[in-house]
Amino acid sequence: MIVSPSPQLARIRTRFREEFAGEGSGGEPRLFFAPGRVNLVGAHLDYSGGDVLPMAVDRGVYAAVRAENDDRIRLVSLDQELEVDLPFTAVPERADADLGWTAYPIGVWQQFVARTGVRQGFTAVVGGDLPMASGLSSSAALEVAIAVALDALAETQLDHETLARLAHAAEREFVGVNCGIMDQFASALCRPGHALWLRCADQTYEHLPLSADACEVVVMDTRKPRQLADSMFNQRVDECAAAFAALSAAVGERACLAHFTPAELEAAVVEPRDVYLRARHVVTEMGRIARAVEALRRGDIAVVGAMLTESHRSTATDYAVSCDELDVVTAAACEVRGVYGARLTGAGFGGCAIALAEPGTADRLQAHVTEVFERRFGVTPAFDLLRPGLGAREIV
Ligand code: GLA
Repeated sequence: MIVSPSPQLARIRTRFREEFAGEGSGGEPRLFFAPGRVNLVGAHLDYSGGDVLPMAVDRGVYAAVRAENDDRIRLVSLDQELEVDLPFTAVPERADADLGWTAYPIGVWQQFVARTGVRQGFTAVVGGDLPMASGLSSSAALEVAIAVALDALAETQLDHETLARLAHAAEREFVGVNCGIMDQFASALCRPGHALWLRCADQTYEHLPLSADACEVVVMDTRKPRQLADSMFNQRVDECAAAFAALSAAVGERACLAHFTPAELEAAVVEPRDVYLRARHVVTEMGRIARAVEALRRGDIAVVGAMLTESHRSTATDYAVSCDELDVVTAAACEVRGVYGARLTGAGFGGCAIALAEPGTADRLQAHVTEVFERRFGVTPAFDLLRPGLGAREIV
């Protein structure tokens, strides 16, 4: 695959020179990249111990990073105004709101120190080319880019699985977001030409072939803000915990909610109805993952696409994380020739959906979906075209 360098790469280099050439250790930074991801099937399963099936896209976060001999962390972003220049002694136990986006790299540094004992100062300029707040996991990509960088600069030779765990711990323990493991694992572990079948219950995984030439991913931005996304997300986490407790009492212990079968759920009484519906999404989504995995082994992307569409339906009806805009955009996309399937991306509650399509479909899709969407909502959605991408790495 030919990889054309992102304009962000040149920009972070230039900005680094402008801001830091004469400061600190003075040398040239090294360059790192970590991708964003789309999750094909396995919506909202990671925190219920289920399986997920993400693939890396050709966009993500770039970081120009240099080791320093002083005890300071300096961070600059191309996309955010906030900058920090912080002595180690001023790094709090847990992030506060003042740290803004810098909580992610600082959290990774804190976890890196805890794991390796290496307390090295560093300067980083970062910049991303993922569509903003699209549900393609830019914060995990930032964490993983910094984790890969700190490991390379300190020559600690941690494997990518360890770096994924470290990035995830940073998000949970320092930033304070109770997220599942999918995003950091996807960004750190995805390989070119493959989707990642990740079993979240025991954190084992397998790379399944998905040829980079076989599909494109169209991101469709409904422009509907993600209202209440955080509180609704936490509510779903609580509902799944309630379903797990009810099923464990009725059926017997399992490691996690995703390990109950649809038949066990139907035989048990899980109440209230909302909690039963959340559980129904989780246990049936495991079946869709299994079918998508089998389809990938056969190279049958049409079936993978059908699973995306079924997954959307289930997240809309049973899991209740969709909205009219996401339902319309995905249904309209599925009417277009060459589209394998479509579903909301990220946590849902507004924001973006993705369509998995045959290469060369994007223009046709944009024309049709725009027409349908404008007619219904009087709003023009935005589109972006992504392709399967490379994994997290140093750019040399
Ligand atoms: C967000 C979370 C992920 C995952 C998805 C839903 O992106 O960060 O861990 O739960 O929602 O699939």
